[in-house]
Amino acid sequence: MLFRQLFDAETSTYTYLIADPATKEAALVDPVVEQVDRDLKLIGELGLTLRYCLETHIHADHVTGTGRLRQLTGCEGIVPQNANAACADRYIGDGETIKIGEISILAIATPGHTDSHAAYLINGDRVLTGDSLLIRGCGRTDFQSGDAGILYDVIVGQLFSLPDETLVYPGHDYRGHTVSTIGEEKQHNPRFAGQDRDSFIELMDNLNLPNPKKIMEAVPANERCGKIPAFL
Ligand code: FE2
Repeated sequence: MLFRQLFDAETSTYTYLIADPATKEAALVDPVVEQVDRDLKLIGELGLTLRYCLETHIHADHVTGTGRLRQLTGCEGIVPQNANAACADRYIGDGETIKIGEISILAIATPGHTDSHAAYLINGDRVLTGDSLLIRGCGRTDFQSGDAGILYDVIVGQLFSLPDETLVYPGHDYRGHTVSTIGEEKQHNPRFAGQDRDSFIELMDNLNLPNPKKIMEAVPANERCGKIPAFL
């Protein structure tokens, strides 16, 4: 399997390129509109055909590259079930799998950061967690219909039930980390280690974070698969 982690420094967003080296089919997870040229150059250099752009959720901090990539390559844009994005080609529900050649991408419904969110388990041994579980942290739950109790339940009940050696690749990192494991996060993530559901909810209710800089632009644009509305 070809697996690449790509970074957008302005929003600290990770985009993932996954491809089958035999069939040359590829998927991008959480592309960023400002990085579309970088991503297409890499895809071209590696001789790949982009089949899918998958979103883990409707982002508030950056505009998705899916709209442009779809226009330029004819790939399909896929979002989690119930995501507010009528422009998507396809919706993916919990337990559904997408194949890229021999590679399987299994969607795990992981709401809580937003009311519609999917993590993607790649070939059973690495999980792209989007903004649910982050390295030594987790996604915020104070807008976009977020819910701390639901996030606690899906991370502890779903993601932490994956094997300890499962690699964790998050949607963002702000401290320079790139990858972790489920076992490491169970043990060292301060949002979960030694916390119960109630203390987690209290902690999340008191983060008092500023809104992301691009929220007013990003959410409406992402609900249109990356097309920035004319009224903004
Ligand atoms: Fe997010």
